[in-house]
Amino acid sequence: MTPFTFISTLILFIPTCLSFTVIMSDSGVPSALVDAPQTGFSMNNGAKTDHDEQQAVYDIMKATGNEWATDIPDVCRGRWHGIECMPDKNNVFHVVSLSFGALSDDTAFPICDPTRSYMSPSITKLPHIRTLFFYRCFTDKPQPIPSFLGQLGPSLQTLVLRENGHVGPIPIELGNLTSLRVLDFHKNNLNGSIPVSFSRFTGLKSLDLSSNKLTGSIPSLAFPELTILDLNQNHLTGSIPTTLGNCQSLMKIDLSRNRLTGQIPDSINGLTGLFLMDLSYNSLSGPIPSSIKTLDSLQALILNGNPLDSTIPDTAFDGLNNLMILILSDTYLHGPIPESISRLPNLRILHLDRNRLNGSIPTAFRNLNGLSELRLNDNELIGPIPFGKEMIWNMRRKLKLENNLGLCYDGRNGFGDDMGLLSDSGIDHCDMPKPGPAKMVQHVSTPNEGEPVRDSTSVASSSSSYSRGLFQLLTVFVFLL
Ligand SMILES: *[C@@H]1O[C@H](CO)[C@@H](O)[C@H](O)[C@H]1NC(C)=O
Ligand SMILES: *[C@@H]1O[C@H](CO)[C@@H](O)[C@H](O)[C@H]1NC(C)=O
Ligand SMILES: *[C@@H]1O[C@H](CO)[C@@H](O)[C@H](O)[C@H]1NC(C)=O
Repeated sequence: MTPFTFISTLILFIPTCLSFTVIMSDSGVPSALVDAPQTGFSMNNGAKTDHDEQQAVYDIMKATGNEWATDIPDVCRGRWHGIECMPDKNNVFHVVSLSFGALSDDTAFPICDPTRSYMSPSITKLPHIRTLFFYRCFTDKPQPIPSFLGQLGPSLQTLVLRENGHVGPIPIELGNLTSLRVLDFHKNNLNGSIPVSFSRFTGLKSLDLSSNKLTGSIPSLAFPELTILDLNQNHLTGSIPTTLGNCQSLMKIDLSRNRLTGQIPDSINGLTGLFLMDLSYNSLSGPIPSSIKTLDSLQALILNGNPLDSTIPDTAFDGLNNLMILILSDTYLHGPIPESISRLPNLRILHLDRNRLNGSIPTAFRNLNGLSELRLNDNELIGPIPFGKEMIWNMRRKLKLENNLGLCYDGRNGFGDDMGLLSDSGIDHCDMPKPGPAKMVQHVSTPNEGEPVRDSTSVASSSSSYSRGLFQLLTVFVFLL
């Protein structure tokens, strides 16, 4: 059978919907089981489910409020969605996968009764289990992730405990799950730090610990097969580990909404498969490392809400031919806007607002034909805006230019007097009398001149919807049996 296949078709330009990561279960790890197709699952020849495993499944089902399962004489034969079995050489069937929770309309896994569900220790009596999936199971009775899961050792490959209301720390015993490929604890209330024992997951492909309350620093991860690292919305501190550069398969890094400090490490330069890097809302300092431009596949770079406090290097993004989204709002950037940004052929969304960028908008910006959203508001820009009427019309209200020092429009750019679209920006004809001190005063009072506005909800909601809306992962399991 094919080894673990991991398909991430995430690059869809659909700002408000969820996109999907499809994680296909695998048959790649050596085991005593026969990887035979179970089409129709006829189980002729007197094949039977292992007796002890059958009892364990009854226990696990009862513990989630699914007592009905105990009426099923053979759990592998009376198979429901959410249980998968495989035969061994003697035609005895073993449970390899158990899933609970209504993940989507298309899946019909048994639903947990959240008022009384708990995770039965009988899970450890399933020696062939490869996949455990619990979604919204223990929410009314918050409970820790049981450390006995560590006893599953190298057989478990996928552990998904998503939106279950788990509390407390991540048990260090989970480090014994040395064959894990997918670990997903999204949206619980886990606290404490990420166990150092996680470094044993050398074959890990996807790590999602987002939306918890984890503290401490990110351990030195060096997982050559890791494609997804999502630690967003925790309380992580310290710097971004330089070992990330050793995770050569990374496609998505989301460390947004933590308390990370230090610089973006130069070691990210080998990550040629990376398409999303979201480091927004941390305390990272500048400059933007020159290694960014080696990230050939990068489609979205989201750094807003960090005190980078530097200039944008002239060639910072040169060669990022796939870059569609560049978000640098609210990062204390100063100095000029480099003309090189106009040479990003696929740029659709550019946010440079709430900085102290000065000088004029490079004339070559008129070549950014694919741009659908441009924010340059709340900077110190002056001079004529270089866009033609068509470009302004295309962006409409997604062109934001207000609160600059002296932007104006030049009649020769072909607007005529039809400036209705810019009327909200307070922008006048270039030959009009210059806006006087009143405008300066207005600018000086904008938030980015003083202390950082860390908690501005308008800023927060606007840009996070990109990282999450565009790229949020939903995990779907397809079993190749
Ligand atoms: C994890 O493995 C260690 C040995 O590496 C062992 O001592 C420990 O009991 C195991 N823990 C569990 C929960 O299986
Ligand atoms: C984790 O949260 C629990 C309450 O749910 C608290 O008792 C415990 O002290 C916290 N531990 C850490 C390390 O913050
Ligand atoms: C932009 O601001 C810097 C200080 O940050 C200043 O040195 C430079 O002269 C300014 N450039 C323009 C064109 O105003």
